[in-house]
Amino acid sequence: MTLLPPPRVNVWIMALTLLVTAAPFAQAQTAAPLSYGVENYIFHPVTAPHGMVASVDKTATEVGVAILRQGGNAVDAAVAVGFALAVTHPQAGNLGGGFMLLRTPAGQTVAIDFREMAPQGATRTMFIGADGNADCRLSLTSPLASGTPGTVAGLTLALSRYGSMDLARVMQPAIRLAEQGFIVNQALAGDLAHYGRENLVHYANSRAVFFKANGQPYTAGERLRQSQLARSLTLIAHQGSRAFYHGDIARQIVAEMRRRGGLINRQDLANYQALERRPVMGSYRGYEIYSMPPPSSGGVHIIQILNILENFDLAKMGAGSANAIQVMSEAMKYAYADRSQYLGDPDFVSVPVQALTSKAYAKTQAQRIDLNHARPSSTIRPGQLQLYESDQTTHYSVVDKNGYAVAVTYTLNTYFGSGIMAGNSGILLNNEMDDFSAKPGSPNLFGLVGADANAIAPRKRPLSSMSPTLVVKDGKIWLMTGSPGGSHIITTVLQMVVNTIDFGMNIAEATAAPRFHQQWTPDELRLEKGFSPDTLRLLQEKGQTLAIKPVMGSVQSIMRLPDGTLAGASDPRTQDDLTAGY
Ligand code: GLY
Repeated sequence: MTLLPPPRVNVWIMALTLLVTAAPFAQAQTAAPLSYGVENYIFHPVTAPHGMVASVDKTATEVGVAILRQGGNAVDAAVAVGFALAVTHPQAGNLGGGFMLLRTPAGQTVAIDFREMAPQGATRTMFIGADGNADCRLSLTSPLASGTPGTVAGLTLALSRYGSMDLARVMQPAIRLAEQGFIVNQALAGDLAHYGRENLVHYANSRAVFFKANGQPYTAGERLRQSQLARSLTLIAHQGSRAFYHGDIARQIVAEMRRRGGLINRQDLANYQALERRPVMGSYRGYEIYSMPPPSSGGVHIIQILNILENFDLAKMGAGSANAIQVMSEAMKYAYADRSQYLGDPDFVSVPVQALTSKAYAKTQAQRIDLNHARPSSTIRPGQLQLYESDQTTHYSVVDKNGYAVAVTYTLNTYFGSGIMAGNSGILLNNEMDDFSAKPGSPNLFGLVGADANAIAPRKRPLSSMSPTLVVKDGKIWLMTGSPGGSHIITTVLQMVVNTIDFGMNIAEATAAPRFHQQWTPDELRLEKGFSPDTLRLLQEKGQTLAIKPVMGSVQSIMRLPDGTLAGASDPRTQDDLTAGY
């Protein structure tokens, strides 16, 4: 289906731009940031003069670009993309919760929190099994796994406060995609075949949508129609978020919960509220960094790690060098140790954001980092902060010609959430309750441990790592970025900032560069393929425990070049349909 008018030169589409996979990337770059442009680079960003959308899905990106072309601002486009992904990227988009960071042309930066909330009936020990241990089947695949969804409240709030178009207009493309169907891409086909067989297939209403009459999931190249979802989206387009939180969709969610023994009831839905929050803010080598505040841990820890890194000359060490990786991974340990202790829903616990993001605190942590010897995680505890007190997911970025910039990360948690569909609404239910700390010290799906600050309580929001992030230079948006990936989100976004600011990579290079990750526990430096054996050997000699594992993240970023040109890149790790075959 063609959603766009014939291409014009002023707006280019940038999803699915990179064909190549991450190549070895261990070049030493000692100079300060270069031109960030498109020449003399292995990896090339897409460029455009006016507006841009970067998302994981080409069709959803086209929806956003079409809204920009029609004169919509970046918020209009972001809301349109958000609902389009509910149709075309049901792995993460259909309709859980998340966060939006937006910047207005006047330079105001706002965070919108539409994270799921624990239902009123949730209890602290609800995921502890008979053996006294946390039972992840309860928190991931049972009807208890779902928090009250926030995406519809968040997107409609953003549109009403910052958009310029009406809801019906920006939802029209999503409704059409659901009604008329879209062609399933490799990514969705693969995820249906793998994860769909683990969860969706167990529920007749989910199976009826994503599996064919012969019992097989839809495969690449086939058309997937979602008429029930089209009806639900039409209700929302006409009635606003009331349809979801009070009306017909609410009734179907509650009935499904009752039928299966879940907790979300009418009051949970009626009381749900998306909130505007103040973004967490920091600085890094002269750039302003804005990111998501609690209940996401992302912004706090990205800024904390950047503050630590400011004490080292990463540019001189060089991208991909053992020294740069050593410093960064040691800094990550300190941040994740603090995360386990201090981070939670700020409406329930006092999160020491100011202390955690203070330069002085970072300096004490930087002083503990030894360039030559990794410090075992077992010897690192959450920091003493009082001295400083006086603070399967998807991401997309949108920018328009007037200077609005929007970064959204939202999710059902794991692929297709719990797999449970609310009646015949076409709406999948999340399994975000797993992001709470079910029991102190017990890791969740992402291996993250937590304590009281992230214990389950009624109407509390589970701690997240989602980190839509904006970087501002000289008062103007310079970079917007974000990623899925659970606990890897924080370190993936961090590396986008460091790759561009310290190593002078253009946005496509920064995206393609191999990533690494350390989260304190387990004490393991996880790396993607692509680092040189020499580098790995040096890291081992420093005492790092290395693990080469599958790729991390799917970054969707846009950078504004010094001449105002927009340069964007979609992560090659999740692109799959530019090359064709038969
Ligand atoms: N569900 C993953 C996160 O919010 O971090």
